[in-house]
Amino acid sequence: VGLRARFVLLAIGLVLTVGAIVGTTAYVALRRSLHAQAAAQAAGQATRLAALVDVPGQSEQGQNHVDLADRSLSRDFPVAGLLVEIDGRDDRPLQASRRGLRLPLPAAARGRCATQGRSGGRLERPRVAFACRRLGGPRLRLGSVVVGVPLRSADRALGTLRRALVLGLAAGTLAAAMVALALAHHVLRPARQIAAAARSIREGDLSRRIGYTGARDELGTLAGELDACFAALQEALRRQRDFVADASHELKTPVAAMRAHVELLRGWAATDAASRGRALEALDHAARRAGRLVADLLVLADLDRPATAPRAPVALDQVVVDVIRECGPLRADVTVRVTRLDEAMVLGDELRLQQLLINLLDNALRAGPPGGEVRLALTRSGGEAIVTVDDDGPGIPPELLPHVFDRFVSADRRVRRHGAGSGLGLAIALAIARSHGGRLEAANGASGGAALRFTVPVAGPSSNLHHRLTDASSPAPSVDAQSTTTQRGGRT
Ligand SMILES: Nc1ncnc2c1ncn2[C@@H]1O[C@H](COP(=O)(O)OP(=O)(O)OP(=O)(O)O)[C@@H](O)[C@H]1O
Ligand SMILES: [Mg+2]
Repeated sequence: VGLRARFVLLAIGLVLTVGAIVGTTAYVALRRSLHAQAAAQAAGQATRLAALVDVPGQSEQGQNHVDLADRSLSRDFPVAGLLVEIDGRDDRPLQASRRGLRLPLPAAARGRCATQGRSGGRLERPRVAFACRRLGGPRLRLGSVVVGVPLRSADRALGTLRRALVLGLAAGTLAAAMVALALAHHVLRPARQIAAAARSIREGDLSRRIGYTGARDELGTLAGELDACFAALQEALRRQRDFVADASHELKTPVAAMRAHVELLRGWAATDAASRGRALEALDHAARRAGRLVADLLVLADLDRPATAPRAPVALDQVVVDVIRECGPLRADVTVRVTRLDEAMVLGDELRLQQLLINLLDNALRAGPPGGEVRLALTRSGGEAIVTVDDDGPGIPPELLPHVFDRFVSADRRVRRHGAGSGLGLAIALAIARSHGGRLEAANGASGGAALRFTVPVAGPSSNLHHRLTDASSPAPSVDAQSTTTQRGGRT
């Protein structure tokens, strides 16, 4: 059953239930009240009549001055519509308000009237509420007075109420069903819009949105959330497509270079030793570049997966020292200076952390002017370890800053063609930082050079663990925590 039908059924059920309870209660209360009123009237009249006839004290002696057959006793009652019957000692009627009237009281009511002096109840034919009063004392009974109050008008009123209730309930049910239908139609509007938008998106129109502008109720909020979700999905898909396009574009260049040089080697370069050497070198270079790019892409794909890498305690200060050893030789004319080296243990993957710092240091070393300096610091503060890498280069262009961590972002396309980098370094670094629960921020320092800052939570008190690990490792590096200079031969 659809939601709309359920709405309607619910509304009908509610109206019927509430209407039936209220109607029945009102009907029963009114009937009771009308019957009680008639009974009270009958009792009142019977008592008054009995008092007229029965002179206290006399009946006990078997004498009564009032003649029970006196017609004036019942003569006035028909005017008010009441039925009156005065019976003698043997319960036979002596007179009645209407000729031939006989109120057929049940034997029990007769008996109670005789023994207890009074009784009352309801008769079906004629339909009346009756009251019976004994005339005379309990020992010497002269007879009885019976008064009947007709219930016809009460029954008529009750019948009218019954019909009104049934009619009202039917009308109320119909109205409730219609209102529920309209309400459901209105309330479910966002649901219909959501379904329509989802269908278009499934059929390929990724830019389609629900665009719901109505009330911000539960469904309205859902529509808004879904729109945001669709937008995020479209953006993610676009980035994925761009990424694949960029990656294949990046690979196309070295592959084209390789094919060109292979052609060259097949042709005239095969005979000329110098040309052959150059072509082979270029081939090697292109192959390395393609290899590095593929490796980077694999790293990124791996980092995109939810963390599965084993987590082990890593001495971050040791990683910093190792990285300087590896990257220092990249530029012979740039000095790497460690301005501070606190001890810090972090939980994570040592190779990945190395890769992160290598990418930062590699960028800084490339950017630095000849004779410049790259400053590295590892500071432990609170529960965090902070590694900063500052250089004396031109800094990151301001327009590039917001996108510097995106994939394939590079300030200068020419740099890429010369094989410097494909713009994946910082994207990888950021992914590694995040997979360690850390942050990576890029800014430009006061001196104008780039300032990168990697923050990562440390794993508890470090010193013990740290010493255990460094003791086990190969000879401790001779790095002065205050100022260390590594200057080695350059790398091509
Ligand atoms: N220290 C820095 N000084 C100036 N610009 C920088 C610095 N670090 C990064 N950038 C800019 O950010 C861009 C992106 O850096 P990223 O490391 O992601 O890529 P890349 O170095 O060009 O290539 P890859 O690292 O993949 O070899 C760089 O091309 C450069 O323009
Ligand atoms: Mg780089």
